[in-house]
Amino acid sequence: MKRVLSRVVFASGLMLGVFVVSPSLAADAAAGPAKPDMVKGAQLYEQGDLARGVVACVSCHGTGGNSTIPANPNLAAQSHEYLYKQLVSFRPREGGAAPTRKAAEGGPSVMSAMAGPLTEADMLNVAGYLSQQKLTQPATASNEKLVERGQKIWRAGIPERNVPACAGCHSPNGAGIPAQFPRLGGQWSSYIEDQLKLFRAGHRANGPMMVQIADRMSDPDIKAVSDYAAGLR
Ligand code: HEC
Ligand code: HEC
Repeated sequence: MKRVLSRVVFASGLMLGVFVVSPSLAADAAAGPAKPDMVKGAQLYEQGDLARGVVACVSCHGTGGNSTIPANPNLAAQSHEYLYKQLVSFRPREGGAAPTRKAAEGGPSVMSAMAGPLTEADMLNVAGYLSQQKLTQPATASNEKLVERGQKIWRAGIPERNVPACAGCHSPNGAGIPAQFPRLGGQWSSYIEDQLKLFRAGHRANGPMMVQIADRMSDPDIKAVSDYAAGLR
């Protein structure tokens, strides 16, 4: 069943990518775009809010969303819609169900504790602020031996296993396509690798397209394309 379903989803993957809009985004569009307060976003990012249990994001994600620690993703220059959606995904769902974005072994992500105390306005503001920051210290590709395979997967996918070209959704230069498709260029390769494995294992279930795609990739495929993507500009 999963296979059949996945083929159907797959055939229309690109179309879905363009037309699926989450209810909250659709509602925003109807009401006019919510205007994030960049000053409040910057303040929360840099200082947190001790009284409400909000930890300063800068302590892990670095100045202006330029992380120096590969386990913590770069957030600078990522679309605000994507960032907002991720913060929501780390929080428990209505009725107390577990978040759709979990960590290895299905345990809670570090981010669930960080996103828990945020209000709707906090999430919009901090996402708005980060989307305006420049990626000043992008990660680089580090493994020359993987470049050829990585580039092939990025540009052409793995046709024999129905893996589509990453470039089709994440854009040829890895900058992503707002609002849905995140930037991968300049992201830490080990983070990209971890996320692909989380999608594959179903622990990150907030992106059905990626769950289908990662499900068809081997560890060496994942390693090669992650390294290649990190080096894109
Ligand atoms: C203790 C360190 C730490 C702090 C503090 C922290 N984060 Fe994170 N953040 C992480 C880690 C680690 C991940 C990757 C989590 C995962 O994959 O489960 C992450 C992931 C994210 C993501 C997803 C990025 C993507 O590319 O999908 C967003 C958005 C984010 N954090 C925003 C924030 C914001 C906003 C704050 C402050 C309110 C914050 N983080 C505070 C460690 C931290
Ligand atoms: C059909 C469109 C599509 C294709 C093709 C695609 N992706 Fe994605 N990808 C997405 C979407 C949509 C998301 C955001 C999921 C979410 O909202 O959490 C995403 C998210 C990701 C993320 C998480 C980024 C982060 O910051 O946490 C990684 C890593 C990723 N994709 C890698 C790849 C790789 C590698 C390929 C090629 C093998 C690929 N994607 C092909 C649609 C696509």
